[in-house]
Amino acid sequence: MRTSENAGEKCVGMPAQEFDSHSETYHDTLDQLTRITGEGGEYFAELKARHLARALGADFSGKILDFGCGVGLLSRYLLRYFPACDLHGYDISTSSIAQIEPAISSGGRFTSHENELAENYDLIVIANVMHHIATENQLDAISRLYARLAPGGNLVVFEHNPANLLTRWAVSVCAFDVGVVLLWPREVRAYLRLAGLNDLKQAYITFFPRWFSWLRTFESFLGWCPLGAQYAVMGRKNTG
Ligand SMILES: C[S@@+](CC[C@H](N)C(=O)[O-])C[C@H]1O[C@@H](n2cnc3c(N)ncnc32)[C@H](O)[C@@H]1O
Repeated sequence: MRTSENAGEKCVGMPAQEFDSHSETYHDTLDQLTRITGEGGEYFAELKARHLARALGADFSGKILDFGCGVGLLSRYLLRYFPACDLHGYDISTSSIAQIEPAISSGGRFTSHENELAENYDLIVIANVMHHIATENQLDAISRLYARLAPGGNLVVFEHNPANLLTRWAVSVCAFDVGVVLLWPREVRAYLRLAGLNDLKQAYITFFPRWFSWLRTFESFLGWCPLGAQYAVMGRKNTG
């Protein structure tokens, strides 16, 4: 297994445009990896948007940045769950940005140039991106995004849960996860705190495969349970 169980092991990060070579096959790769759960990549993206709608309210209508948006998989569901939002996306992979459907990208700013982003986001979403950033740059990445939050804005990090063995297996065979080191929730919480975020809320998500889908109605009560395949940590920037 290539991912680390040992605290202290460092992610060296990926070459800036590594995902360029995966952009055309991203959906297929994800679908193959998640097949064991009976679901495709879309399911996991929708779950994240639904988690946010529960946390922020479906009438949330602010300015959202999907940081590390890739080919726009999560962006599509952010637009669906927050139809009144102003959605922007950023990714270092220019060819991933180019793959985003116009129906998603035409309404907002989708770019590989950080200086084209706004500085007053009400919500910044970082989904499965942190483990691709070199360990020594992770705090800096969160701090730079903190600076782009409006007062009172929220920043949320979704990550793979290293305590979930199925997740670890999927990452270990994933073509675009070579050499990554998964982050523990406590590490993400520390980054958010050090960057200046408050009111941290953590929840584990994604518990049941398709054949136990009748149990999924209980998932929203299981946020405390460290067996979820992924987790979310959200923090808020002070208004003052
Ligand atoms: C596993 S994909 C996740 C894509 C999307 N967030 C999703 O949930 O489907 C990771 C993405 O992070 C991007 N990425 C990696 N390092 C980055 C960085 N330093 N800044 C912005 N994006 C980055 C990659 O190019 C890739 O598109």
